[in-house]
Order: sequence, then C-alpha cells, then structure tokens
Amino acid sequence: MNRLHRWYCASPRWRSTLARLLPQALAGVDLGDHVLELGCGPGVATPMLAAGARRVTAIDNDTWGLAALQRRDAAAVRLVRGDATALPFASATFSTAVALTMLHHVPTTLLQDRLLREAARTLRPGGLFVGVDVQFSAALWLAHVGDTFMPIPPDTAARRLAAAGFCDVAVAVDSGYIRFAGRVPGAPAGTAR
Ligand SMILES: C[S@@+](CC[C@H](N)C(=O)[O-])C[C@H]1O[C@@H](n2cnc3c(N)ncnc32)[C@H](O)[C@@H]1O
Repeated sequence: MNRLHRWYCASPRWRSTLARLLPQALAGVDLGDHVLELGCGPGVATPMLAAGARRVTAIDNDTWGLAALQRRDAAAVRLVRGDATALPFASATFSTAVALTMLHHVPTTLLQDRLLREAARTLRPGGLFVGVDVQFSAALWLAHVGDTFMPIPPDTAARRLAAAGFCDVAVAVDSGYIRFAGRVPGAPAGTAR
C-alpha cells in the first residue's frame, strides 16, 4: 500500500469509520467460533471481531500491517502472512470470513474471484462471508496513485459471489461503500435438518 494508505488505515479517523461500518455489515450476524479476517492490515477491525468470536485468524500479505497488529493486544488472534487468493488453510475451517476494504487492493478480477472462491472453500457448510468495500470515486482513485485500486462494480457483485459458490447473496450500496454477504450452502455441523 502507498504511504498515505498506511497512515490512513491506522488512523483514528479510519477507526471511527470502521466502528460505524462494521456493525452495519455484521448486523444480526453470529460470527461463530472462528473468524477469518482477510487483508487485516494494521488490525483496526481485528479487536472488534475478536470481541464477537472465540478465535480470529487474520491474514495479510504485507508485513507492515501484521507488525502493527502484533504490537497490540491480540491474544485471541492468530496472525498469518499470506495471500488471500491462495489461502494456506484447510477447507471448511472457519465459521465466518470477513473482508473489510481489502478487495479493491487485489489487482485483477481473476484474482478477486479466486479470493472469493478461497473464502468459500475455507468456510464450513453454512459459513458466512461478509465484505465491505469502497466504490469508485475520482478522489479515491487519486488516493491510490502508486497503489492498486480495483473497486468491484456493484452490479457484478451478486453474480460473482454466486459464481464463487455462495448462496443467500446480499449486496447493498450506501454512502460510497458496498456491503456484500453470502453463505456457503449446507447446514452447520450439529444443526438438525
Ligand atoms: C486498505 S487495507 C484494509 C485493512 C483492514 N482490512 C481495514 O479495513 O482496516 C487493505 C489490506 O489488504 C491487504 N491485501 C491486499 N491484497 C491481499 C492479498 N492478496 N492477500 C492478503 N492481504 C491482502 C493489504 O496488504 C492491506 O493490508
């Protein structure tokens, strides 16, 4: 990420934005026992997720963010350096996967779709994928000079989530952000059918 991003993603302003966005995205969601956070960056959202789940595994391919997160209290959090488009986790590991303002940093549609498929693969049956991302704007495009900026066109999100293997797909666009969610087909283990 460029320097402006590194500063902004760890800033109090971003913290308060996430404190508004995350509850909206997770309204009514039971995170279950093990959350996967994709592209955690410096981990501003990570404690918010850890507050709602027994365990959080946070993955990022940039050591800068992970180092910042490591310095903070992250007892229930496992940090992994790795690529969210090729997740180093067994299939059906997680109860919920969350991708917060990270998909636009994945440089191609092909890789973004691979990330969505990886999220579906590593979720258990019935597991939920929840994402929030930015929409295109000229100001954001400028803020990403020297960085990757590939926002998801909102009208393609539902189709792409379904193609990745999710059902019960929901997409909402609001105030410059897109929220999306999908569930892996099947019932969670132990659920009566
Ligand atoms: C804008 S930051 C968002 C950080 C955090 N999710 C938040 O909302 O505060 C995007 C993060 O996604 C990470 N990222 C981008 N592509 C990735 C990939 N293929 N695998 C893992 N992390 C990735 C970047 O390194 C960066 O830390």
